Amino acid sequence: MRLDHITYVAGRTLLDDVSVSFPAGKVTALSGPSGSGKTTLLSIAGGLLQATSGTAELGSGPDGQGGQDMWTGSGDPRPEVAFVLQVYGLVPILSARENVSIALRARGASPADADEAAEAALARFGIADLGERQVEELSGGQMQRVACARGFVVGAGVLLADEPTSELDEGNRGVVLAELREEAARGAVVVVATHDPAVVEACDLHIALDEGRVVQ
Ligand SMILES: Nc1ncnc2c1ncn2[C@@H]1O[C@H](COP(=O)(O)OP(=O)(O)OP(=O)(O)O)[C@@H](O)[C@H]1O
Ligand SMILES: [Mg+2]
Repeated sequence: MRLDHITYVAGRTLLDDVSVSFPAGKVTALSGPSGSGKTTLLSIAGGLLQATSGTAELGSGPDGQGGQDMWTGSGDPRPEVAFVLQVYGLVPILSARENVSIALRARGASPADADEAAEAALARFGIADLGERQVEELSGGQMQRVACARGFVVGAGVLLADEPTSELDEGNRGVVLAELREEAARGAVVVVATHDPAVVEACDLHIALDEGRVVQ
């Protein structure tokens, strides 16, 4: 994915002429202090927000030609995009399994297939035993892993993970990093916004933001 000269203005300039590539098959870390624009940039990359100016395209060549616009016109992401949201976005009264399963149901999977894949996705993050539990009864780190399972389950071409390890212990952070690598290994564009130097270290590429500008 290629972002060119992205500027985003909401009252003030939140992103200022950001040009970056997120290649398929690599895990790219997007780092920067709180408020530097990481979530805003991921939202534009995933088609949730429309940039004030600049382009965000999937599949464009190094010359920037021939890509598909990430902004679909509605604020709905393209079907190839999956998110792990910083605020999780889980449905509190549904079970962990149902929260993962609905991501697949929304993409046309049968209930039985979706439930089976959801079980497997929960297992990837070490929470197979929590499938029946209502999400509002889970700990913060458990909810974060359900959010990971929901983002990863669809096998998306573009996986945008916003601080997916912020509430996790070292062991579970390692699990999430290994799963991010797995997604890149099957050819996905994987971007992970993070404050954590250990996560940055484990990624293939690193883009640092400060006050809405690329600094590295
Ligand atoms: N809809 C909005 N309208 C106005 N300002 C916004 C909006 N969304 C975010 N901001 C501001 O834009 C800046 C960047 O926010 P953003 O959420 O992208 O930062 P971040 O790097 O993800 O931070 P964090 O590490 O805390 O998650 C912040 O100063 C924030 O207050
Ligand atoms: Mg953020």
